[in-house]
Amino acid sequence: MSEQRIPRIIQGGMGVGISSWRLARTVSMEGELGVISGTAVALTLARKIMERVDEEDVNRALDAFPFPKMVERIRAKYAPSTDEQFNKDRFKGVPMPTIEYSKDLLELTVVACFVEVYMAKYGHDGLVGMNLLEKIVTPTLSSLYGALLAGVDYILMGAGIPIRIPQVLDELSQNKDSSLPVKVADDETGEIVYSRFSPTAFAEGENLPKLKRPKFLAIVSSAPLALHLHRSQYGSPDGFVVEMPIAGGHNAPPRGKMQLNENGEPIYGIRDEVDFQAIQNIGLPFYLAGGYGSREQYVMATNLGASGIQVGTAFAFCEESGMEKSLKQRIIEAVKKGLGRVRTDPLASPTGFPFKVVEIEGTNGIHETAEKRQRICDLGYLREAYRKENGNIGYRCPSEPVDDYVKKGGKIEETVGRRCLCNGLVSTLGLGQKRRNGTEEIPIVTAGDDLKFVLRFLKPGQLSYTAKDVLNILLGKDLKTTT
Ligand SMILES: Cc1cc2nc3c(=O)[nH]c(=O)nc-3n(C[C@H](O)[C@H](O)[C@H](O)COP(=O)(O)O)c2cc1C
Repeated sequence: MSEQRIPRIIQGGMGVGISSWRLARTVSMEGELGVISGTAVALTLARKIMERVDEEDVNRALDAFPFPKMVERIRAKYAPSTDEQFNKDRFKGVPMPTIEYSKDLLELTVVACFVEVYMAKYGHDGLVGMNLLEKIVTPTLSSLYGALLAGVDYILMGAGIPIRIPQVLDELSQNKDSSLPVKVADDETGEIVYSRFSPTAFAEGENLPKLKRPKFLAIVSSAPLALHLHRSQYGSPDGFVVEMPIAGGHNAPPRGKMQLNENGEPIYGIRDEVDFQAIQNIGLPFYLAGGYGSREQYVMATNLGASGIQVGTAFAFCEESGMEKSLKQRIIEAVKKGLGRVRTDPLASPTGFPFKVVEIEGTNGIHETAEKRQRICDLGYLREAYRKENGNIGYRCPSEPVDDYVKKGGKIEETVGRRCLCNGLVSTLGLGQKRRNGTEEIPIVTAGDDLKFVLRFLKPGQLSYTAKDVLNILLGKDLKTTT
């Protein structure tokens, strides 16, 4: 396939690990844009190595990494040795993200993104993208570099304003040093703190490979934001994904003061409506996302001038997604019975963005279950940096133990209703941590408001479907089953 071809369908990047290399590869091999999620893959790679998940594939990708000494160090640290009884009861800790990464975490992050992209691209020449969240800044540069080493074709980023990414991609793809400012709360010093990455320092004197500059699609929720990014001094994105608030995952908050409906969900109004004509006037390719998982919506999107659609929910529950199989089945069965409501929770995410959760028994999508979880913060992807009284930088998360958060200067009201998305989302993959007290982290599942429509992909008598089933319906190749 020509690299110039513009895909019609983007399989959305879904963290943590839902958009696995297996899902992205399948979509990519069908000629559309398969996207892996780059969020927290350092952690999931370490746990997969510990549990020998996808061992053959992971090893193939690790063996292809250009700096073998780093892979040796990762294997030495995380791979269960054959002569030692590997303790399967608990996962070994992985360093938590901070502004200055430890060498361990830096290598693990670059390698993990390389592995995901490498595997998604393995054995074909289709297009593969990687999705990152702008709000999670500190892993961004090392994640991008890992994806670049594996020849990623697209980077997609939303959940914030990814204004510097075009420049960062220019720099990193030329093996130049790059940096991104990190927001530090409670900071009155006026000093700008940067997350930095140097390809030369990373490679420890080894030759740096020649890299391709991938395209960048910014995920936005309004025309003014798209225009702002387009006119930025740091360079323009190559296109946009315009995401509506019924999409799965995090949503942009409503414009103006947050108002809630009788179920406690954010109300979106006329000010949140997107001016598609203004987006089209920018003149770059754009995709519509959020409730576009049907043939009719695809046609509607293209009629509005879009190059295609980005779809998440429909792919999240297909066979190739990273979600643990029995959980996936349980949700599909529940949806069949009219259960599995999707709630837009204004508080659940420590980021402060509304986050959609599926209300399904046995998960932290059920309020009472979630409230019973003993708070612990040991993964740390959603921690914010803050300035301590002594001038040093500390890290805190509103879903960590309340006393700890308050001791770090956080406001107690910020902790109400917060969920540990790090542990919950990793558990959704079947990689949840077992605690010393005998409990185990349980999943939290996110999906779009359109969850009920996944039933349209099921063939009669079946409880699962493939990514190809989804693509066939979206592209009108299987019109019989389209609803
Ligand atoms: C399970 C799940 C996880 C998601 N995680 C992310 C994410 O990490 N980053 C992101 O930009 N979008 C994320 N999304 C949004 C999707 O990439 C996509 O834009 C969205 O799902 C499209 O709307 P739909 O859910 O109605 O198909 C997620 C969506 C789902 C369903």
